[in-house]
Amino acid sequence: MADYTVEFVGTGETIEVSDKQTLLQACLEEGIAQEYSCRVGMCLACSAKILEGEVEQSVAEARALTSAEAEEYALTCMARPQSDLVLDRGKYPPSIENAGVDADGAVADDD
Ligand code: FES
Repeated sequence: MADYTVEFVGTGETIEVSDKQTLLQACLEEGIAQEYSCRVGMCLACSAKILEGEVEQSVAEARALTSAEAEEYALTCMARPQSDLVLDRGKYPPSIENAGVDADGAVADDD
């Protein structure tokens, strides 16, 4: 088991996350206000953009993300760190518009 440092840009939050733990589990335990809904890799509500590092999220890739999206976005309810990470929470992959999810207020501005 390895622990990795996960930094969230724009908030100054940094947590340690085991490679056996999902990013969402760690956020909830640490009191970080990560959005989520289904917790099973279907709704994309828990998405974060991966600015640095790698995650294991084969279930998310099978369920909701394209292969290309899975390299840029982590579904935090499914993703486990494979390295130290820098994440931007509240950033959503393009396929959210095709997932039947109401994007009003959910799609963050890229600025
Ligand atoms: S909470 Fe729905 S995909 Fe993660």
